[in-house]
Amino acid sequence: MSECRAPTLESGLTRLDEMLREYDCDSDNLVAILQRTQELFGYLPEEALTHIAAATGCPASAVFGVSTFYSQFRTTPVGKYLILLCKGTACYVSGVNPIESALQNYLGVPDGGTTEDGLFTLENVACIGCCCLAPAMMINGRTYGHLTPNYAVSVLKELRAREETP
Ligand code: FES
Repeated sequence: MSECRAPTLESGLTRLDEMLREYDCDSDNLVAILQRTQELFGYLPEEALTHIAAATGCPASAVFGVSTFYSQFRTTPVGKYLILLCKGTACYVSGVNPIESALQNYLGVPDGGTTEDGLFTLENVACIGCCCLAPAMMINGRTYGHLTPNYAVSVLKELRAREETP
């Protein structure tokens, strides 16, 4: 399998320190800090949250509170490929449910789950902004539209095969 894109915790914390220099010790900055931290790690590790509290002087309770308040923040690691399956209205009426079942069966994980090999995380989301392609999903920023159950699973099989190619 090829290398994961997330940094190690140690190197991530070093980069986090560099990023924190741009921010005052102001709790109003917390959402922006957490967004950038999540971009860095793919989620919000507990160690990073503790680190942010110490570096900014914000109470740890405030940092942890913001991290759990907003649904945009994840506190558990995600797979190398983050599958955002759209469950918005257009995708719903275009038949996303059988696609969801097919993806869950193939991956063996429910909504929000990550495969044991750390390759895929499946997440249901609201509209991803390409309703004319409904039903649609986005994987690491790339959109796949006009999905059928077979097509959706074939995309994942192709990604997995690519990972297994030396
Ligand atoms: S509802 Fe699925 S892309 Fe808009």
